[in-house]
Amino acid sequence: MLIFTPLLLASTSALFPTHLRCEYLANPIGIDDSAPRLTWIDESDQRGARQSAYRITVSSADSTAHNADLWDSGKVTSNKSSQIEYGGKALMAGQRAYWRVQIWDGNGDSQSSRPAFWELGLPKLSDWHAKWIALPTTANDPLDIPAPLLRKSFTADKPVKRARAYVSAKGLFNLYVDGQKIGKALLTPGWTDYKKRIQYETYDVTRQVQQGSHGLGILLGNGWYCGHIGLTGGNNYGKFPEVLVQLEVEYTDGTKSEVVTDGSWKAKPSAILSDDLLMGETYDARLETRGWSNAKFNDSQWSKVEVRELDAVPLVADQAPPIESIEEIHAKRLIPQTIAGVYVYDLGQNMVGWARLKVHGPAGTKIQLRFAEMLSPNKSVYTTNLRGAKATDNYTLSGKGTEVFEPSFTSHGFRYVEITGFPGTPGLDAITGVVVGSNNPQTGTFTCSNKLVNQLQHNIYWGERGNYLSIPTDCPQRDERLGWMGDAQIFVRTACFNNDVAAFMTKWTQDVVDAQSPEGGFSDVSPRKGDSSDGAPAWGDAGVIVPYTVYLCYGDTRLLARRYPAMRKWVEYIDSVNPNHIWVNRSNNNFGDWLNVNDDTPRDVIGTAYFAYSTDLLARSARILGKTEDVEHYEKLRSQIGEAFRSQFVADDVKIKADTQTDYVLALRFGLLEDSQREAAAKRLVDHIMIDRKGHLSTGFVGVGYLNPTLNAIGRPDVAYRLLLNDTYPSWGYSIRQGATTIWERWDGWTEKGGFQDPGMNSFNHYSLGSVGEWMYNRVAGIDLDPTVPGYEKIVIRPTPGGDLTWASGALDSIHGRIESKWKLNGKQMTLDVLIPANTTATIWVPATNLASVTEGGKAASGVRGLDYVRQESGCVVFAATSGRYHFVSTMK
Ligand code: BGC
Repeated sequence: MLIFTPLLLASTSALFPTHLRCEYLANPIGIDDSAPRLTWIDESDQRGARQSAYRITVSSADSTAHNADLWDSGKVTSNKSSQIEYGGKALMAGQRAYWRVQIWDGNGDSQSSRPAFWELGLPKLSDWHAKWIALPTTANDPLDIPAPLLRKSFTADKPVKRARAYVSAKGLFNLYVDGQKIGKALLTPGWTDYKKRIQYETYDVTRQVQQGSHGLGILLGNGWYCGHIGLTGGNNYGKFPEVLVQLEVEYTDGTKSEVVTDGSWKAKPSAILSDDLLMGETYDARLETRGWSNAKFNDSQWSKVEVRELDAVPLVADQAPPIESIEEIHAKRLIPQTIAGVYVYDLGQNMVGWARLKVHGPAGTKIQLRFAEMLSPNKSVYTTNLRGAKATDNYTLSGKGTEVFEPSFTSHGFRYVEITGFPGTPGLDAITGVVVGSNNPQTGTFTCSNKLVNQLQHNIYWGERGNYLSIPTDCPQRDERLGWMGDAQIFVRTACFNNDVAAFMTKWTQDVVDAQSPEGGFSDVSPRKGDSSDGAPAWGDAGVIVPYTVYLCYGDTRLLARRYPAMRKWVEYIDSVNPNHIWVNRSNNNFGDWLNVNDDTPRDVIGTAYFAYSTDLLARSARILGKTEDVEHYEKLRSQIGEAFRSQFVADDVKIKADTQTDYVLALRFGLLEDSQREAAAKRLVDHIMIDRKGHLSTGFVGVGYLNPTLNAIGRPDVAYRLLLNDTYPSWGYSIRQGATTIWERWDGWTEKGGFQDPGMNSFNHYSLGSVGEWMYNRVAGIDLDPTVPGYEKIVIRPTPGGDLTWASGALDSIHGRIESKWKLNGKQMTLDVLIPANTTATIWVPATNLASVTEGGKAASGVRGLDYVRQESGCVVFAATSGRYHFVSTMK
């Protein structure tokens, strides 16, 4: 990580470039794109600072990046600071490029960044000289065989300049050099449809591979490749794991050598007797092979490996943030149990990962760990809702001193850990929770004066943290853990606030395209599960909504362009079989408003609303990408669907088919009504909530995401706050009152009256109902984007104080820099503190009676530099603002 200290870069310029990133990553190695995009953040402490031009220089050997032998963009008159495609000489496999950017401010003064770099991986199959290798076996089930160890010794016989290891697996791997695990990444290389593409990882092993003899080792697990995957059992892509290693060593004299997996490697079963993501891991420490990945290890007794040639399946660089151990949680308490020898730990947080066990005892002692999200009434672990996922780790002691066990190739969703077989009485420190997930950098924070709402934000955040594990999963604990598309799309906007998920979603939207059927059907889960049917309304539509949302939140036009053909094919797929524009044919599993509260929205309403929505986003995408014919065609189609919706579902009195909350929410949110019908629909929605449901929501996964945004848009934030602050069933607060530390799958996962819901489907860590997070950021705290200038290049600050909140505070580290919005009430007086990053502009809605009642920095707002009065609307004074810090004080009605 480079640290940029503006003070060291003395200059008169008001702007300096920081946070240099390539494809969303800081100094990545192993990038596949020949034209990766470069991004930086303009920083300034001056109001209104704007970049007027930039110049990027890229160098092959000069680490200061002054000698631009690869590319010199020249001085480009532009305020663009993100997503700039590299336009220089093609890099060779493994080649590093050093880059820096010089930027000019409005006065023509300039400032240069510190250098950064990226490095190409092995983008072409022909760059690979390694072969797939595996431990030979006659077993039938991967769970019947121990995880293999594979090894080879080699010598670097000259001084080494640099060394890189490129590693992929059909399965999961850990790489070792001379006994040391390389890198912090876990569960590599992640989940893709291994029949369509397989990711590889790149490691800088220069420090480990210096002149001399070395041992190279691989521990290989089953993972998603051949272990159990939700709802399908095991062996989904192949029977046993295989690995591919290519170690490239460059010597100081300019020569190179390679160590690759081939028939010269040796293999042997490890001490991991079985491993599975859903079932857990069994480890016998007595079977450990000491020094197995060291240079001098004698492997003459080990088996030869099985060798398979590379086939045509593309190997692609893993360009998303790695799965890592993010945090550790100490056990909070030990819960007394009725059965002797059984201990249950409470970590105080429903989390995803595993437990680290610390133990001392006689060789051969067997310890069992089981994991659960909840406790049964008798305080034992409640595991019924895990269904077929055994989620059990077993450890047999070696008897050598204090032993520490952590599994390698499994993960669990849990708050409670049950230990059986511990020698003696375990202390609180025998168990530590290791929190594991895709380490997408945190970008958002939200806090306010209400404790319940803060807990809600906490629960939403932890839901995202645990369920974004290589792909966005529905849940982390039961035998499911699939990339459910409906869940992913309804939550994605919230996700983009909490964390930088651009690279993560770039990868996953490729999985979504890989899962598209030849007819154009996206799937319900991506990667697709076997030969499952195509996607349902609101589920399959994720293939359109997610790329569009990433475009909006990160200004990623290239992703939109790359996904556009698949998005178009999806809309065509629906259109071609629904000539009346009512989506009933090919609506596949049609889940409806999943898990609503006795308020079931008709399937054709949801289908048609989503058909309109996807077509709308497609038309918008076509416009952004300059596809004029498509714009016309899909705008027309969109209006035909709207007409069909109204004539089929909307009565003269504007009652919409089944009169559910979601009926009205979708019609209002997706713009499916005539202007003249909106008021009546809005009134009916509010009455449904306030009268029929006595101030409660009844929406399921689909409706919930748009509920509070719609209430805000129709001018009823008071009703949105009512729902936010409820703690009676059904509400977010209800689960919090029951002690929830993550979002539950169901509004009634556990109730005082009924106890646990149907264990057939009752997860306590499912982020879908947490999609209200988006509204908390953009209307409670007030940080939003302007879709006409995406990626927060034009920001909207629009807080809506309400409920009993006396203050709220949001921050977002956007691709253009840090945005803050913090408001505080004191009677009718409101203060609003705003930070708009340099090189962006904003529209700021200050809640106020009129312009005269607003001051900024202690002066009448009307005269302040950088602020222009625009209009008065909806109880706010609207300003156009340049970048900088603003401190508003206003009087509200
Ligand atoms: C999953 C959901 C998913 C749903 C489809 C469930 O089993 O857990 O989150 O969206 O099926 O209706």
